[in-house]
Amino acid sequence: MNSTTPDNAGSPPRFYLETYGCQMNIADSQLIGGQLRRAGYVSVERPEQADVILLNTCAIREHAEERVLGRLSDLARLKERQPALRLGLVGCMAQNNRTSLLGKAPYLDLVAGPDAYRQLPRMLAEAAFDPVVDVRLSRDETYADLEPDWESGVRAYLTIMRGCDRFCAFCVVPYVRGRERSVPLAALLAQLRTLAQRGVKEVVLLGQTVNAYRDEAVDFAALLHAAAGVEGLERIRFTSPHPCDMSPAVIEAMAGEPKVQPYLHLPVQAGSDRILEKMARGYSVEEYLALVARLRAAIPDLALSTDLIVGFCEETEEDFAATMELMRAVRFDSAFTFKYSRRPHTRAAERPDSVPEPEKARRLAAVIELQEQISLQRNQALVGQVCQVLVEGPARRGEGMLMGKTPQFKTAVFSAGGEIAAGATVAVRIESATSHSLLGHAV
Ligand code: 5AD
Ligand code: SF4
Repeated sequence: MNSTTPDNAGSPPRFYLETYGCQMNIADSQLIGGQLRRAGYVSVERPEQADVILLNTCAIREHAEERVLGRLSDLARLKERQPALRLGLVGCMAQNNRTSLLGKAPYLDLVAGPDAYRQLPRMLAEAAFDPVVDVRLSRDETYADLEPDWESGVRAYLTIMRGCDRFCAFCVVPYVRGRERSVPLAALLAQLRTLAQRGVKEVVLLGQTVNAYRDEAVDFAALLHAAAGVEGLERIRFTSPHPCDMSPAVIEAMAGEPKVQPYLHLPVQAGSDRILEKMARGYSVEEYLALVARLRAAIPDLALSTDLIVGFCEETEEDFAATMELMRAVRFDSAFTFKYSRRPHTRAAERPDSVPEPEKARRLAAVIELQEQISLQRNQALVGQVCQVLVEGPARRGEGMLMGKTPQFKTAVFSAGGEIAAGATVAVRIESATSHSLLGHAV
């Protein structure tokens, strides 16, 4: 048997796909799923059942890559029992490591970067004794015509642009996802209508720098207005914007379109001008704070979250204290916090990764602790208020409890007198809160 003949000859080939990393990768996996399904593959739940195993990977931090390499060598053992099994690595890590991966993981049959998904069925048909590799980046691939296998549910994620042109000094994304390009408006509106017809109530527009969206004269603000016009959709969100592209028109669209929800993930990364400059973020602390003030003036019930990196090259104790100060000044509702991880290709990789690991760990623990306090206080301030919760289904914990999100994208767990179907919006009175969720009763 050669490797193009699956064990279950006669029945459709089976694929198993595992996803690492961000929301964009989850959306890409749905795209890959659609692409393989149209090529005659069926998906399976467990790697042992598959003829093809694909890992859709993340390269943002070293730790993410190490996890995948470990997982790959585990999965490679399945080949001993099933020699026809093909193992592929796709996504950002495929792009980042290119052919060097084949040295580290010689059992790989396929390596495909984020712009090669259209080729996957062909590549899989070819993969025989030599691995197939496609890590060419494209200037215009948006997969606009390929329908992803969206998960059924209340919320759907829709990729509206790909790539990034910002080249922040620490970030590998522009190297692994290539140049910025946007899905044409017409394709997006068609997809939004399809989603609405399938009962989706909330759409999250995705892009690495989502608010840099542009389709000729249509900018991100115009896209928000257009999306708000799609009947049946009730809530529109987006992630992740870059502060520099948060134009007055975008703020106005957020404030003026009731469907655009009062929640913004606005990555700040650091609270010292010296570090922001080294990171090439394109704004100062003062400019960021002024933007936050404009947003809060326009959208009074706005919730804000952010990304923070501690221990970036040459971050001093004073720089770090400035990050803590910024957190106290803004009082984010939540924050994703990371230790700086040196990434090959990036500009920061040429600088000394000078903050020792234990010090990075200490700074990370401090930002997490501070954010926990702030999140708890902000959530507890909502006790007694009534929030509109879009119901997603039963809560994981708590017999008979339901869960959903508030407009501010906070998780609410609540009890209700009667049955409430997923997709309904319910008024919930908040009775208690933790740093991560709200607890209440339907009113
Ligand atoms: N090290 C640590 N965190 C990083 N991020 C991006 N690159 C790195 C890196 N090299 C973080 C940023 C970004 C988020 C998605 O991941 O905070 O906003
Ligand atoms: Fe990375 Fe900066 Fe682009 Fe975000 S804006 S993806 S942090 S380079």
